[in-house]
Amino acid sequence: MTDAGSRHLLGLADLDDASFHQLLERADALDAAPPPPSLTGRTVANLFFEPSTRTRASFELAATRLGAHVLNLDIPRSSTSKGETLVDTVRALQAMQVDTFVVRHRDDGILRAAVSALGNHAPSFVNAGEGRSEHPTQGLIDALAVQRRFGDCAGLRIAIIGDIAHSRVARSSAIALSRLGAEVCVAGPVSLLPDAPFQGARLADGFDDAISGAMVVMMLRVQRERMAAGGAPDDAAYHAEWGLTRARLARAAKGAVVMHPGPFNRGVEIASDVADGPDSMILDQVALGVPVRMAVLEWVANR
Ligand code: NCD
Repeated sequence: MTDAGSRHLLGLADLDDASFHQLLERADALDAAPPPPSLTGRTVANLFFEPSTRTRASFELAATRLGAHVLNLDIPRSSTSKGETLVDTVRALQAMQVDTFVVRHRDDGILRAAVSALGNHAPSFVNAGEGRSEHPTQGLIDALAVQRRFGDCAGLRIAIIGDIAHSRVARSSAIALSRLGAEVCVAGPVSLLPDAPFQGARLADGFDDAISGAMVVMMLRVQRERMAAGGAPDDAAYHAEWGLTRARLARAAKGAVVMHPGPFNRGVEIASDVADGPDSMILDQVALGVPVRMAVLEWVANR
C-alpha cells in the first residue's frame, strides 16, 4: 500500500502477490549473506503499545544491521501516556526526521486511520501486530519457515490450533501459507473461534480433524489479555483438551513439524517435551524474524 510516495506494510490481505514473493526471496537472501548497509541515513522508530520480546528485538536488530538509526520509544514514559494520540506522536517524531514507524497496538484499524489522517505527509508504517487483525511480518516468517523446510508447499496440510478468535498471527499466517498453496485449517475451543469466516483457512471439526494428516501443527497461546476477567479457560483443563502432547502429535502426518509464534506457555497449549523436541521449529521461526524484518524495512524504504 502506498500513500503519496510512502510505502506501508499494514497487512498481508492487501499485499500484492509480486511483493509477497519478493519479500520472501529477499528475506531468504538476507539470511544467507551479510546484510548490506542499505538503510544508512534512515531512522526507524519502534512504537510498541503492547508487550513484545521477539518482534521488538528483531525489528531493532534488523534496522541496526542494515545501518539505520533506531529509536525505541518507551511508551509508558512517553506523551502517549499523557493522552497524546498516535498521530500526534508520529508527527512530533517526523519533525525529528524519523521516516519509518514500526507500530504494535491493541486497536484494530489504528494504522490505516493514522495513514489516512497523515495524508500526503504519512511516513512509512509497518504493522508489528494490530489488535486481532493482522501481524504481517509473523505471517511472512511462518511462510518462509515452512517453504524452507518443505520446498513446494502446494497441498501441504497445516493445522493452526488454539485461540483463533484473538489471534492476529492466525490471520496473517493463514493468508501467507495459503498463498504458497498450502491447505490450512484452524481449530480451537468453540468459545475461541472467530465469528466471521477466515481468509485462507477452513474451520476444522475439532482437534483430531485438524491434526490428522497435518505436516505442520502450529499452536497458539490463549490470549488472556484480550478476554474479559474470568473469561479465560483454566490452564489444566485447556491442556487436557487442547494442549499439544507427544501422543496427540503422533496423529499428525509422519515427519510433521511443530510451530508456535511465541511466547508459549509450557504445559498449557504445548507440552514442554514437544516445544523442546526434535520436531519443533519454534526457534527457527524466531531466527527468521531478523531477515524477514530486514526485508520489510528495505521494502518500505523502496530499497
Ligand atoms: C504474538 C502476538 O503478539 O501477536 N506474538 C508474536 O508476535 N510472536 C502472539 C501472542 O502474543 O500470543
